[in-house]
Amino acid sequence: MDQDHTEYRAARDDEIEACVELQHQVFRPHEDDAPDRYRSYVRDDPSYRPGLSRVALVEGRIVSHLRIWERVLNVRGTTLKAGGVGSLLCLPEYRGRGIASGVLADAERFFLEEGYDLGLLFTIIGTPYYDNRGWTPLPLPTFSATPNSPLVEERVGRGVDLNLDDHLDVIRNIHRVECDSSTGSCERTATYWNDGPARLRGMFPRTGVEVDGRLVAYANWEDRPEGIWVTEAAAIEGCGAAIVTLAETVVSAASGGAIEGSLRRDNPLAACLGQMSEMSWSVHDEMMVKMTDWARLDSRLSSVGVDIGPAPPKSRSDTDSFWRVLFGCALTEDRDTVWWDRLGPCPPLFYSWADIF
Ligand SMILES: CC(C)(COP(=O)(O)OP(=O)(O)OC[C@H]1O[C@@H](n2cnc3c(N)ncnc32)[C@H](O)[C@@H]1OP(=O)(O)O)[C@@H](O)C(=O)NCCC(=O)NCCS
Repeated sequence: MDQDHTEYRAARDDEIEACVELQHQVFRPHEDDAPDRYRSYVRDDPSYRPGLSRVALVEGRIVSHLRIWERVLNVRGTTLKAGGVGSLLCLPEYRGRGIASGVLADAERFFLEEGYDLGLLFTIIGTPYYDNRGWTPLPLPTFSATPNSPLVEERVGRGVDLNLDDHLDVIRNIHRVECDSSTGSCERTATYWNDGPARLRGMFPRTGVEVDGRLVAYANWEDRPEGIWVTEAAAIEGCGAAIVTLAETVVSAASGGAIEGSLRRDNPLAACLGQMSEMSWSVHDEMMVKMTDWARLDSRLSSVGVDIGPAPPKSRSDTDSFWRVLFGCALTEDRDTVWWDRLGPCPPLFYSWADIF
């Protein structure tokens, strides 16, 4: 309890329904099925455990909430356990009193106690709110493509609709290519592809390409009023012209509308769309990270021979440089820092849209 009599703590199981109703009210007030969605985030997620819903209570009433999502990130040859902050909210009549900041600080204490290597979030309110609370934005690539010339290359393979029973194992193998080509990608267990939250987000990919009966590439997207948003694409190395077949399926799904999305800049589907389209690249800066405990991070990374040294960054801008260098998205000025000397380059940052919570 703080001096304003606000209590910060984990939600009890019998308080989950109140948290569901708060999220419905604040995020999707006009959607009747929103409570099912928020309930499923907790009840149908095998990785959920008590403690991952954090709340603030004023005079016994829950007025603010966040949900912690556990994510395991591939970083420089090891995995880091991230505590992901989602669904941060405060009831309108209690805003502006620092209550959401208090829930965030409570979650950060939980990260420290529970041994998370870092905090992770994706903001929908811009970066300043979290930046002012010590979080560092990391830029992720986005693209916009307007197809103008069909490719004349020979098509290889045939498009197939994917389903979990037949394709999960091979999809997981193809997904590894994306993990190995980037820094920050999210590890996915077998259940992660089809748990409640994954089904609500349409995580399992829709379409793939088979060559000689073997699946070699897949893609997924969200339908939007103006076209499609490509959430993911992956291909085994050397599958060459099969990507043209994949790109044609994606172009046809857009039905002449916009093709936008977030892919690695050297993702094969992105390269293929680039050949048949006017393609422009940009960044979104929704991804943000925060330190939990330097000594812990040092020990995790040094176990695979990555030496960040015993002393944490000296200042906030030094902290920002550290994260950008570690995650493969260094700015020019970051190359003058000790972090660049110690860590050097690595594959570029990429965190799939499909893994955002
Ligand atoms: C964002 C939100 C959680 C803040 O709750 P709160 O208890 O008022 O937050 P605090 O009192 O800790 O902080 C107030 C700060 O939030 C800022 N803020 C509030 N709403 C904001 C918004 N939509 N965009 C950016 N900043 C916002 C205020 O300007 C104020 O800034 P300051 O610290 O520079 O003065 C609350 O406005 C809310 O529930 N919004 C709707 C849900 C939402 O968008 N959640 C964010 C998910 S990423």
